[in-house]
Amino acid sequence: MKRRPRINRWTASRRNLVFSNSIRQSLVQPHFVVAGTGVNEPIESMPGISRQSVDVLLETIDSDVQNGIHGHMLFGVIDNALKDSIASKASDSEMPLQKAVAELKEKYGKNIVLFTDVCLCTATDHGHCGIIHDNEIDNDLTLPELIKIAISHAKAGSDYVSASDMMDGRVKAIRKALENEGFTDTGIMSYSVKYASSFYGPFRDAASSSPEHGDRKSHQMDVRSGYKEAILEATSDEKEGADIIMVKPAMTYLDVVRRVSDAVSRPVAVYNVSGEYTMVMSSTEEGPQRKAMVQEIFYSFARAGADVIVSYHAREAVHGNWFD
Ligand code: PBG
Repeated sequence: MKRRPRINRWTASRRNLVFSNSIRQSLVQPHFVVAGTGVNEPIESMPGISRQSVDVLLETIDSDVQNGIHGHMLFGVIDNALKDSIASKASDSEMPLQKAVAELKEKYGKNIVLFTDVCLCTATDHGHCGIIHDNEIDNDLTLPELIKIAISHAKAGSDYVSASDMMDGRVKAIRKALENEGFTDTGIMSYSVKYASSFYGPFRDAASSSPEHGDRKSHQMDVRSGYKEAILEATSDEKEGADIIMVKPAMTYLDVVRRVSDAVSRPVAVYNVSGEYTMVMSSTEEGPQRKAMVQEIFYSFARAGADVIVSYHAREAVHGNWFD
């Protein structure tokens, strides 16, 4: 089957996250997972966010769950020494990301919704999101690697494998592989409308995923492109079987969120990215001013049609009761 609308209804926590119309319940907190034990390494450019080993991450997520955050997005950060040209480690079941997912699922089961980032860039020595062939990112050679990564996440227990690479045809390829392997309740959140944005800088430090040379403009979308390109990407992913369609970044593309939300019959997510977070954090102190700013930003996402909000502000927002 290409489409399984039941995937978004599978658990009460998925339904609350996607369909509740409550900003509070639709938030997803991102995390960076590293190897080792007892590691809690603050990311300088992103106040309040750190790279954590599995044991520390479990404590962090436990306190988040107690506070009422049920949506969590995990990024695996891989040691430079383990990177290679084909991102082999990204699909290794012994890596911290897969271990964290398995432990979290064992602990929380259906009471948590886990999203896991599927891309090559955190595990390639060249830092690109695909397989390099003749000095170009080769779309079709990259698909089998993305499938391996997605299947390893599904095996660990991820609720939504989240394809952020922007290769053509990857949703179809991943959906087919999930079906073949019997993962009929694993969802795909596709970073469908993802721009080659200058707002990802702090994330690339955090995940050590900067391209060694060149940029991501041959696959991520041109920031000058109009609605046609956005609708093309969103509707293609919908047809290929994506369960949630994402627009990223969020704040500079609210017009696109609205158009995409009107054009697809799947839930829409926005990713309030690292550079957007840093802008707010560097211009406010903890307190009422930051609260008001984040409220205004999240209301704009909801007004534009976002059903799910991925944001580094999620923890503070839920902890401070900033939203109903
Ligand atoms: C991986 C990926 C990126 C982000 C999410 N997944 C970086 C990129 O595409 O360069 C950015 C998230 C953020 O800036 O917070 N491809």
